[in-house]
Amino acid sequence: APSVRTPPGASPFTLVAARVVTCDESRATAGNALGALEPGAVTIADGKIAWIGPPEARDPNVPVTDVGGAVVTPGLIDAHTHLAWAGSRHGEYAVRMAGGDYEAIAKAGGGIVSTFRAVADTSPEALVELLRARLLRAAQLGVTTCEVKSGYGLLPEHELKQLRAIAACTNRPELPAVVPTFLALHALPPEARADRGGYVRRVVEELLPRVREENLAAFVDAYLDASAFQIDEGRALGEKARALGFHLRLHVGQFADIGGAELAAELGAHSVDHLEQVSGAGIAALARAGTHAVLLPIASFTLKQAPPPVAKLRAAGVPLVVASDANPGTAPTESLPLALALGVRNYDLTPEEAILGATRWAARSLDLPQRGALRRGAQADLVVWDLPHEHAIVQPWGTPRTRLVLRDGAPIFG
Ligand code: NIG
Ligand code: FE
Repeated sequence: APSVRTPPGASPFTLVAARVVTCDESRATAGNALGALEPGAVTIADGKIAWIGPPEARDPNVPVTDVGGAVVTPGLIDAHTHLAWAGSRHGEYAVRMAGGDYEAIAKAGGGIVSTFRAVADTSPEALVELLRARLLRAAQLGVTTCEVKSGYGLLPEHELKQLRAIAACTNRPELPAVVPTFLALHALPPEARADRGGYVRRVVEELLPRVREENLAAFVDAYLDASAFQIDEGRALGEKARALGFHLRLHVGQFADIGGAELAAELGAHSVDHLEQVSGAGIAALARAGTHAVLLPIASFTLKQAPPPVAKLRAAGVPLVVASDANPGTAPTESLPLALALGVRNYDLTPEEAILGATRWAARSLDLPQRGALRRGAQADLVVWDLPHEHAIVQPWGTPRTRLVLRDGAPIFG
């Protein structure tokens, strides 16, 4: 098979492939949900898609890079990661596999709090390096945009350190594009156990405006669950965040349904993430509000949990996003393709749903109208896979199957 010999740095150029999966809604038809062109061609100029169509209709004056039998898709968008972590939780994993309970381990000072200690002990420079290395591995797996949350700093000083590490990896052309999220309420730091109300108040009234002033996040997140933060705490945070101009995404229903979906809908959140436990009323509220459900099949696999009610979410018309949840506790990987594979294997998603969940809907959940689909005028983020068809992408390979990954028209891998 011909390989990519022409470095696609010099613009413009036209990529010709056996199959180009656009994920463009306006090209979707019955039987072609992903708007695939077979064969297809994409002309890239100035980091954007200048033209897309059948190869014979391309501008003959533009040089061609022929990738032969490969399938081309939009760059994958990982809409939920905790990639800016330090340390390792391998000991806890062994305990959990032997029957230890995730929430009980957290209560005993393990879990998120153990990663909090590791992050507190890590220098800003080392944290940037850890994040950078993980983003490069994600790029190799086809990820061109990555949401990255803080949430392991817990105390203002370390939360800001984590957010600044994320900022240092944002707008770096050799990395995926980064969308920073301030995960403001993730766990109660041991230092705050005696004054939970005071901790939440300081996060809402002091840290949130600080993060806004320093422009360190686009989204604000909170972990709402029976053993985490409660609805009234989430509402106080969410209302203040919205007033300051942040968008919202919320960890909801990972272990128990405490009404997080209803709160997310009420607050106009862009997404609710996890959703293993959600009521019919919660699903209806999400559908009415147009909130995206971010499915995290690696986390539920690692935690030996049953899937969320995917069929009910689908029937209600809730847009389904699939993300990695990359984190040291419940998803120690950077692999969004693994999440897609498990989404198909364990959540009964169709391959088309899985792929749209990491492209079109992921982009929309992150408020990125210029990404997530191959169409004229969009950013030229795309993946040339060493695979002949998009249905091959969602199999659990366990190794990178990308040949070339372009972000804004330039290679970040391959
Ligand atoms: O999305 N549930 C809360 N947050 C993460 C896990 C964080 C951790 O265990 O370190 C999640 O699964
Ligand atoms: Fe998470």
